[in-house]
Amino acid sequence: MPKKTVSFRTFGCKQNRYDTDFLRESFERKGFVVAEDDADVVVINTCAVTARSAQKCRQAIRAAARRGAKVVVTGCYPQIASDEVKEIPGVIAVSGVRERSRLADLVLEALETGAPVVEVKPHVAGEEFEETEVQQPDLTRAFLKIQEGCGDYCTYCIVPYARGPSRSRSPESVIREAERLVQRGYKEIVLTGTHIGLYGEGNLPRLVEEVGRIEGLIRLRISSLEPHDVTPELLDCLRLPNVCHHLHLPLQSGSDRILRMMGRRYDVALFMDIVGRARRVAPDLGLTTDIIAGFPGETEEDFRESLTVAREAGFSRIHAFKYSVRPGTRAAAFEDKVPEKVKEERVSALISLGRELSGAFHRRLVGRDFEVLVEDDREKDGLLAGFTRNYVRCRFSGEDDLKGKVISVTVQEAGPLDVTGSARR
Ligand code: 5AD
Repeated sequence: MPKKTVSFRTFGCKQNRYDTDFLRESFERKGFVVAEDDADVVVINTCAVTARSAQKCRQAIRAAARRGAKVVVTGCYPQIASDEVKEIPGVIAVSGVRERSRLADLVLEALETGAPVVEVKPHVAGEEFEETEVQQPDLTRAFLKIQEGCGDYCTYCIVPYARGPSRSRSPESVIREAERLVQRGYKEIVLTGTHIGLYGEGNLPRLVEEVGRIEGLIRLRISSLEPHDVTPELLDCLRLPNVCHHLHLPLQSGSDRILRMMGRRYDVALFMDIVGRARRVAPDLGLTTDIIAGFPGETEEDFRESLTVAREAGFSRIHAFKYSVRPGTRAAAFEDKVPEKVKEERVSALISLGRELSGAFHRRLVGRDFEVLVEDDREKDGLLAGFTRNYVRCRFSGEDDLKGKVISVTVQEAGPLDVTGSARR
């Protein structure tokens, strides 16, 4: 019998990208052949952070099923709504965010018996970190998962229900995987997790330092952090030569009243204080954020504060989210919901402010030299591209031998999405 082919689609966060990398390899080990598309089996690694993310996943599931594929659905969406998922025609296996290591076996079982398999384990207190390892991530950049879960229960957020309680991977295991990735030639590692500030109960700075010391690791990036997790020790990590001068600090709102209703653990003053301290360590810091528009009770005044604070913080990029009711969260029961039309207007305002601020941040780089880690794939127009240490995408012309290297680029032009420049030899 010819081997079964499998393809993968990933929605949502960087952690999901890591999980998919792992799943791809575990399916290969079980005898599947990984295909780009038109595979017999399609595995969809889902996101459920907003109603729209769940809807996009449903569309992808239906589209794959229409093509005649057998669909496997895993990740956050089935974890919170397995019944909804298993009813979709074409779905042969459903699993949540636990026991990823068994998914390939479950799929083989479903294929053999013809009976759909549903295996969504509820989260439990004291749940352990599920050890998984990735050999061959798919880019110059490797994501490395160090932590999973969150127990903060911000009032709008479904993630603690989907990902369960916080659990951390042991430092030894993180270092082992990081060393292996570097040996395989990966130049950049991104430390990811649901809420990595919770890593080992205050041990993130130590871990960053240890991974940062690995010989041959050119870049180490820390993914999203909660503002209150940015301790002086963590800011010190930005002084290490290979740690990227980029922080993603979700502001969510610029109104203290809304932040309190969201159950966030900082106020605007603390947020700005952290930003100031980070900029003193890294003056060119790339600072990106998430902001939610239209949280229940958000007035025009509250929203204007979000715009004002975003300007003051000088974000290099804003991810704007329209508030989405997530059943089961506390905010789902909050009165005073903002009308859909108003939410949409506010999201548009955030998006245009985001573009303006990105452009302004990029213009400040013009005329200066930056180190760029050159990626393997060329742009559509034939240019090479890569990221600067402060996470700005930079495009320039050059030969293939620059791929995978760090080179110095003089920035010449700034756009809203990236900058262009010329490589110095
Ligand atoms: N509605 C809108 N955006 C949300 N996010 C999380 N939950 C919701 C929700 N219910 C956004 C937050 C978070 C990002 C990953 O998703 O801004 O930082």
